[in-house]
Amino acid sequence: MAFKKNKDLELKNGIVYNKVGETQTDGYDRLKDNLLYLNADGKNKVIQMVSSISGEGKTTVCANLAVGLGLTEKKVVVVDLDFKSQGLNEVFNISAEKGVAEYILGQVEYENLPIKTEYENVFVITGGSNIYNSSLILVSEKFKALFEKLRSDYDYVIIDSAPVLNSSDFIHLIKVADGVLFLARHGKTTRNQIAESVKELTKNGANILGSVFTRYNGKNN
Ligand SMILES: Nc1ncnc2c1ncn2[C@@H]1O[C@H](COP(=O)(O)OP(=O)(O)O)[C@@H](O)[C@H]1O
Ligand SMILES: [Mg+2]
Repeated sequence: MAFKKNKDLELKNGIVYNKVGETQTDGYDRLKDNLLYLNADGKNKVIQMVSSISGEGKTTVCANLAVGLGLTEKKVVVVDLDFKSQGLNEVFNISAEKGVAEYILGQVEYENLPIKTEYENVFVITGGSNIYNSSLILVSEKFKALFEKLRSDYDYVIIDSAPVLNSSDFIHLIKVADGVLFLARHGKTTRNQIAESVKELTKNGANILGSVFTRYNGKNN
């Protein structure tokens, strides 16, 4: 989806919002509405935003989706688990010093982990800074328990996931998520990458809820 060019819209660090504080682009709104229906019975609360490689728009879509859901009175937390390429801290202008890694190491309490953003009902948990071995973090019992807590404290838990083709981190995230949204970027992601990623996701038991095509300009190339 392309950012809408409209003089009433403002773009701040990749988050689009209009001046009266409502959500904006049709694409993000549609995605938000789809998710509201998908989670009507509360069974698709933890959503993993995944794509083949980096730079396809995962962080941007996670952020815009969270802001949109927040405006519908849903309490949302976005968790940055793309340890090799964290981006939520920049988008929301928050510190990534203490996040999931420090929580697992016992250096930050659960109560202090989610950071309240300037957007209504939107909280962010960063990956943190002490990341030596991401798969050790992701397989730990404390990590699984963290997701159980988030599940009971929030209406939506959005995981900004590591991409499929760079590491195996995405596999561990499938285990804590209810479903996956698969992103591909128009003009960048190749058919082979998409096919390979979908194969990997399916092989590892992902429940693919839908797909998001980013940066589509309406043309066929
Ligand atoms: N729809 C869009 N239009 C223009 N630029 C975008 C769009 N979506 C993302 N970007 C930019 O592209 C870059 C990569 O996006 P990002 O969300 O960080 O991808 P990922 O998290 O998959 O690595 C960022 O600089 C972001 O601001
Ligand atoms: Mg990212």
